[in-house]
Amino acid sequence: MANGVTMTKDAVSAAAWTKKDLLGLRELSVEEIRLVLQTAESFREISLRPIKKVPALRGKTVVNLFFEPSTRTRTSFELAAKRLSADIVNITAQSSSLTKGETVLDTVRNLEALKVDILVIRHAAAGVPHLIARHAAASVINAGDGAHEHPTQALLDLFTIQEKKGRVAGLNVCIVGDIAHSRVARSNIWGLTKLGARVTVCAPPTLLPPQIEQLGVTVSHRVDEAIRAADVVMLLRIQHERQEAQLVPSLREYRLRYGLDRERLKQAKPDVLIMHPGPVNRGVELDSSVADGPYSVILDQVTNGLAVRMAVLYLVSGAPKVEEES
Ligand code: CP
Repeated sequence: MANGVTMTKDAVSAAAWTKKDLLGLRELSVEEIRLVLQTAESFREISLRPIKKVPALRGKTVVNLFFEPSTRTRTSFELAAKRLSADIVNITAQSSSLTKGETVLDTVRNLEALKVDILVIRHAAAGVPHLIARHAAASVINAGDGAHEHPTQALLDLFTIQEKKGRVAGLNVCIVGDIAHSRVARSNIWGLTKLGARVTVCAPPTLLPPQIEQLGVTVSHRVDEAIRAADVVMLLRIQHERQEAQLVPSLREYRLRYGLDRERLKQAKPDVLIMHPGPVNRGVELDSSVADGPYSVILDQVTNGLAVRMAVLYLVSGAPKVEEES
């Protein structure tokens, strides 16, 4: 026991974490993904304690720098930092000097002058966290960059699948929705395939990026068939804010052809998991009867996001040595 965190022998290999930043699942090895999941397992218990706080990151400063709206990611990073006893500052683009013409890199240089340790970045443009990571001494965590990656979302999704199914390898995971504009889909494809799941992406052709098969997934346009084979169905919303043209005839048509309602769900396996990263557009990709039904683990995903983000903050911070359990 050290810093209020009891680490298992597996998680003690935190010393094996060598990355300053977490930018995407594409860059992570299978061992690194497993290490995050094992470390999150150790942190999950802290949120069940009467006093939900450990001193693991005491003296560290985390900045949430969000250039796009967020409910789940921003809040859970803030709570994760607080539960690890770090200091946390929240900055949004609208409330910062970015509105006066300051560049992103100048903003980061000024934050670094204040000796911050970890920058959690969300931005509408792909690659901004990577650019900042190249210039900053602080650790950078990608909290979602454009349609590129959302690594902590995929890690919490993997954690939830592992928790509910006992494994990821060998499962059939079907991702349905706006794959073309989804950073969640991209990160999940990297993570799921690295851990040995079979991934099918299911969408109208206009919502699929070209050559997506090269990422090791199967493409389907037949949602009923894809759902029947799935152990896990992950729904995604239509991302109007990232689309330059109208890519589906209407939301009503999309719902009829691809939306998951009670009737369509009857074809699924009896132990299927229904997942969604949020925010859910009820009545479009997912009916309330399914979103709030017995197969849904949507709120478990949110709960697990806290433990996973605690683990990521802990690992990138080059956290203090911990003792092995004897
Ligand atoms: N899943 C997700 O990224 O949600 P937020 O946009 O609310 O953070």
